[in-house]
Amino acid sequence: MNSITNDIKIIKNETSKINEVDFENLTFGNTFTDHMLICDYRNGAWEQPVIKAYEPFTIDPSAKVFHYGQAIFEGMKAYKDENDDVWLFRPDENHLRFNKSAVRMAMPEIPESIFIDGLKTLLNIEKDWVKFGNGNSLYIRPFMIAIGSGVIAQPSSQYRFMIILSPAKSYYSGEVKVIIAEHFSRAANGGIGAAKAAGNYSAQFYPTKLANEQGFQQIIWTDDATHTKLEEAGTMNVFFRIGDTLLTAPTSERILDGVTRKSVLDIAKRDNIATEVRPVLVEELVAAAKNGTLKEIFGAGTAAVINPIVGFSFRDEYFELPKLENSFALEIKEKLNNIQYKLAEDTFNWTVKV
Ligand SMILES: Cc1ncc(COP(=O)(O)O)c(C=O)c1O
Repeated sequence: MNSITNDIKIIKNETSKINEVDFENLTFGNTFTDHMLICDYRNGAWEQPVIKAYEPFTIDPSAKVFHYGQAIFEGMKAYKDENDDVWLFRPDENHLRFNKSAVRMAMPEIPESIFIDGLKTLLNIEKDWVKFGNGNSLYIRPFMIAIGSGVIAQPSSQYRFMIILSPAKSYYSGEVKVIIAEHFSRAANGGIGAAKAAGNYSAQFYPTKLANEQGFQQIIWTDDATHTKLEEAGTMNVFFRIGDTLLTAPTSERILDGVTRKSVLDIAKRDNIATEVRPVLVEELVAAAKNGTLKEIFGAGTAAVINPIVGFSFRDEYFELPKLENSFALEIKEKLNNIQYKLAEDTFNWTVKV
């Protein structure tokens, strides 16, 4: 049956694959729901968004996304509470960041009526794919690609915005050991590091592959000019606990302004954990590891929420982190999760009902 809700055209998928999905054994980002949202930009305007069956589509081989990498995305999650209501976590932040990425990549900004209202409409249709229970969520991937044809290096005049949804279990990546970057860079001053642009991720694949071969799962990127300041990891901002103070780098045009990062800082401040947002030096980290004041390193990002790091390598030395009883990482993760799953009062007003 076809219908139009708030100017969104809905073409219902007649069949559902939900009963074929093993929700207990999901690998992250591999299973998708029955529907997707799709909205094209042509002649200087966004067209009517359509929600339809999740399926492949064709675009011209000369489309600019293939040749010049004009592509951006977001990552967010929906959670279900015990009353069967579905909740989003700070979706306005993702909408805002998406538009910042769009501007930096010479792509059109997208209005709230498509990004937020379109997402809510899609989630209402796919409610059954959001499972109740700690660790369960529906990962949301909004993205935009340049679909205009022509192998000439200039911005496209046509774009496609889409939202696809993927059910997820709690994300456990095993023990994470990191290497501190000294040669390769993820981002540079004046570059696109602060945008969630596809090329930022493909550029990390090769150095990360080399790190993997040496037994490290991730790289902590440093500033490109001097490689002395600790910045962020592949898909996470990073925090360092030295003594009882939580340190993290300030955001800049080289660092993605993470929603989890700012939420961790707000929770830490509320709960009287000392925080410092300032450049954190590699030499400071190494000195703290040597004198025993370095207690924790953890990543913060939507997929894993908080990901404790067990050790780091710099030049020829490897430093193991202590195993703590009172880990800030685990304490803050639980508090954040409780807000997301509506198990604790959301005094920050971060959660939005679908
Ligand atoms: C490069 C990078 N840094 C940090 C983050 C964390 O951001 P958020 O907390 O908004 O997911 C992500 C993930 O989105 C990322 O890709």
